[in-house]
Amino acid sequence: MILVTGGAGYIGAHVAVELMNRGDAVLILDNLCNSSRTTVQRIAKVVGREPGFIHADVRNRRALDNVFKEYPIEAVVHCAGLKAVGESVREPLRYFETNVSGSVTLCQAMADAGVFKLVFSSSATVYGDCAQMPIAETCPTGQPTNPYGQSKLMAEHVMRSMAASDGRWSVGLLRYFNPIGAHFSGQLGETPTQTPNNLLPYLLQVANRERDVLRIFGSDYPTPDGTGIRDYVHVMDLAEGHLRAMEFLREQTGVHIWNLGTGRGYSVLEVVSAFERVTGVTVPLAFEPRRPGDIARCWADPGKAAGQLGWTARHGLERMLQDAWRWQCLNFPRIEPREVVLRSIEQG
Ligand code: NAD
Ligand code: UFG
Repeated sequence: MILVTGGAGYIGAHVAVELMNRGDAVLILDNLCNSSRTTVQRIAKVVGREPGFIHADVRNRRALDNVFKEYPIEAVVHCAGLKAVGESVREPLRYFETNVSGSVTLCQAMADAGVFKLVFSSSATVYGDCAQMPIAETCPTGQPTNPYGQSKLMAEHVMRSMAASDGRWSVGLLRYFNPIGAHFSGQLGETPTQTPNNLLPYLLQVANRERDVLRIFGSDYPTPDGTGIRDYVHVMDLAEGHLRAMEFLREQTGVHIWNLGTGRGYSVLEVVSAFERVTGVTVPLAFEPRRPGDIARCWADPGKAAGQLGWTARHGLERMLQDAWRWQCLNFPRIEPREVVLRSIEQG
């Protein structure tokens, strides 16, 4: 059985689905601070059987001990965490407590229970403003400018030191680039509970007429069209990356770092025009100054994951946008005329 912390969240839910489709038993542990039980029901609907679910906090050592005592956990995918950059600036202690202390508590409980296989949701944010593109795992980690990024880098350090001190650990640090998209069925996707910070969820709400305009943060970057370039990766490809990492860690000990990205970057304007092309929906834009802390360019060299895990992202930008839009239309229906929605769903 595999424990997925944060499995009611966006990425964890897709990972849980793919693990279950492969035949693994999955236990989700989530405190639901940024998700809801509905997602667990949706996972059951998509897969055709229910995952286990424990409503608990990764900072709660006693709850974790009980989980490891009661269930035959062989490995953990640790997705639980806080991820809003702006909020992390306002509430740094909450971020360090959840993302760093929560990870420490989880690792302590795992070690005491004799479970030494761990896949961790890290982030390309640990590279900071990397001078070299594409970014390989050998690139030095940078100095993240916000507590969220710092907490991810600190958690990585915790896990590296831990594995260096005890050869029984097999740890995969998965550095996600920019996960977007949704499950192909339209039944699972990202459900922002606050105003979205990230491009895609914000764009979807503008396209769905829940918000007036997409603000483009910066049009004077040293990029071909002046807007920021990122490596968007389909959440289903990302989920597959976790499965491959888990297989690798069954055979290998130590700490292994993999970038999960496509290797191709798109600018904000390229994303918007691809979205308009795929869905037929126009997205009103407003150009604004750069967002503090943003970098101009960030895309992966995914060669290590390809070589070691046999993993490459299979879905392109248009597919990501189509799947994200299907999720949005089916679950947050607002836009008129309805034909627009139906047309984009049929295209999928
Ligand atoms: P999410 O907020 O949708 O999911 C995180 C889940 O963790 C939520 O269900 C939340 O309720 C749960 N959680 C938070 N604190 C918890 C705690 N103390 N105990 C138990 N559960 C807790 O976010 P996501 O996009 O699915 O991200 C998952 C992980 O991937 C996070 O660690 C995030 O930092 C990392 N990550 C995300 C992105 C991205 O763009 N989405 C990029 C890089 C890394
Ligand atoms: N952007 C806009 N308008 C918006 C939101 C974003 O123009 O409303 C732009 C940003 O300036 C940036 C691009 O869209 O150029 C992508 O921004 P996101 O906020 O979607 O993503 P980031 O690359 O800033 O950060 C994301 C996650 C981090 C993670 C990082 C890894 O939020 O948690 O990817 O690369 F660490």
